[in-house]
Amino acid sequence: MMSETYNIGLGNNNSEIRKKADSDFVSFWDEQAKNLSWFSPWKKTLDWQPPFARWFVGGTINASYNALDIHQDSKANKPAILWEGEKGESRILTYRDMWIQVQKFSNVLKSLGVQKGDRITIYLPMVPELPVAMLACARIGAIHTVVFSGFSAASIRDRIDDSKSKVIITADGGYRRGKIVKLKEVIDDAIKDLDFVNNVIVLERTKNKISMSSKDKLWNDLMKDASASCDAEKLDSTHPLYILYTSGTTGKPKGVLHGTGGYLTHLHSTFKWAFDIKDSDVFFCTADIGWVTGHSYVVYAPLLHGATEVMYEGAPDFPDASRMWDILQKYKVTIFYTTPTALRMFMKFGDDIPNSFDLSSLRLLGTVGEPINPEVWRWYFKIIGKEKCPIIDTWWQTETGGMLISPLPGLETIPLKPGSGAFAIPGVNIDVFDENGVGVPPNTKGYLVVRNPWPGMLLTLWGDDEKYTTVYWSKYENYYYPGDYALKDEDGYIWLLGRADDVLKVAGHRIGTAELESCIVSHNDIVESAVCGIPDDVKGEVIIAFAVLKHGVGVNSDNLEKEISEKIRKDIGAIATPKQIYFVSKLPKTRSGKIMRRLLKAIASNEKIGDVSTLEDGTAVTEVQGVFDEIQKSIKEKSG
Ligand code: WTA
Repeated sequence: MMSETYNIGLGNNNSEIRKKADSDFVSFWDEQAKNLSWFSPWKKTLDWQPPFARWFVGGTINASYNALDIHQDSKANKPAILWEGEKGESRILTYRDMWIQVQKFSNVLKSLGVQKGDRITIYLPMVPELPVAMLACARIGAIHTVVFSGFSAASIRDRIDDSKSKVIITADGGYRRGKIVKLKEVIDDAIKDLDFVNNVIVLERTKNKISMSSKDKLWNDLMKDASASCDAEKLDSTHPLYILYTSGTTGKPKGVLHGTGGYLTHLHSTFKWAFDIKDSDVFFCTADIGWVTGHSYVVYAPLLHGATEVMYEGAPDFPDASRMWDILQKYKVTIFYTTPTALRMFMKFGDDIPNSFDLSSLRLLGTVGEPINPEVWRWYFKIIGKEKCPIIDTWWQTETGGMLISPLPGLETIPLKPGSGAFAIPGVNIDVFDENGVGVPPNTKGYLVVRNPWPGMLLTLWGDDEKYTTVYWSKYENYYYPGDYALKDEDGYIWLLGRADDVLKVAGHRIGTAELESCIVSHNDIVESAVCGIPDDVKGEVIIAFAVLKHGVGVNSDNLEKEISEKIRKDIGAIATPKQIYFVSKLPKTRSGKIMRRLLKAIASNEKIGDVSTLEDGTAVTEVQGVFDEIQKSIKEKSG
């Protein structure tokens, strides 16, 4: 493995924490939980009935209280959110502003009959009202389920239906690359046949024309007369805070359910250890709140710490490639957390652009969501961090709630290796197993496993304990299986090597192959389909789809490809659109009938095809390869 190391840290060396965590992870987390404000203490630190973990059982707590109320004495006038609109507008919301808005909106929800335990779907652009809505739900014990504003009506419909949300919160529209995305229209379409939806609250952001029904209420109208006082509910530590849908290997997205006390403990600790957060910092995480990174490290973790953070509404390269660096300079950002996809894009634009901005306020950099290529890491280190900022490569998942693997400059100073997440956080025990559950030797690729429950761990999948058990806890009994390949090098550093299952990571977004395939197959002319990801310079992976035509259907591939792409945009969302769709007469399968996606991936990425002895019918490979070669040839000819 690569021996290249960078000896750069922040000078912190707290070895006590690791020692305590290693000796007893349960009492270690018990200590950490005391950093939060509890209404009443817990009776049991961990109730572990595999595979269900319940943390701080018997304690009562409230996420909104910990994010806002506790700061009202010392930080009421400190900015919580420095918001930058895509068009360049600014809004500053102090901890007091947030507190008032959240209490008012809590009362709005109550006035609509929302009760503890009710689900609320939120489909908003990146505006401060999004965290306000989430924290208001948390305040009264309603369970928020935020849906990324890039998802289509059909996707949202499924999520609203699965969670049975009675109230939806949306906006007239949102800005993306200067254009208006008509969110309210999407919601109108999504809830057409969902009678249980009682109310839609509409924030006016873009002022585009919308149609209002008797269910619809304007955010401002409701807020006008709402009282600014609403006490936070004393909720059980295990009370669900939110559902966040994510793609897996099965056809339908899974509703990952997170609790309160454990989740907040995990975030409070990791935010301190990883980002070394100080009162004077200006934190900026570029993630959209529609994904878990936004939930954990835009909304909850920074606010728990009373930090000041930048929140940006729009596309990172709009109106041009300098936007991010302009924001860093303007707000004097000290800690920057982004994705490898964004960095690869910035890197392509060249060094002159970031070099023309004053980035000297930066002291710590981070990445999340996908493996980072060492050359991109080095570029980030040199051009953005000017060789003075440690980089933390943080590995985690929607299911884990917060980081599980990352360098922790706030805690300790270790040599950094570009492309490695270094070590598990204190209190978490990570291993790399072979197929049979045996630990692999150093520098050997295997499956990542987590050996013990951790506080940010999902409670279950919404309404489906059985699926929860089979997806995460059946490959290795009583060990959590995240579905990632990894290895540990000779120094014990962990290297994440991508997904081991049929989940794609396109520009850091998780997309399930089964979901996409069933969408493609639902087109009238298609009988079978397989999708796979192939490497891409910027997005990490892009989607390639193979489709088998119904008997008698001719390949007018241009039109058909357009129709299928359109269908995917409509059923799932633009992020799932394949780069290319190939029409073939057969798909390569194993003898047991499983489609060999890895083989398709190899063909599509122009790699050598390995062992094909398990093929049901060897001719299919040649055929797929043949079709592919032909298409490749015609693409080359077309592009001259
Ligand atoms: C991948 C995002 C390599 C991994 C927070 C994981 C990473 C999936 C890293 C979860 C990283 C996340 N290095 N791979 N630092 N971070 N991943 O649920 O495959 O959107 O299983 O959560 O992203 O994606 P999710």
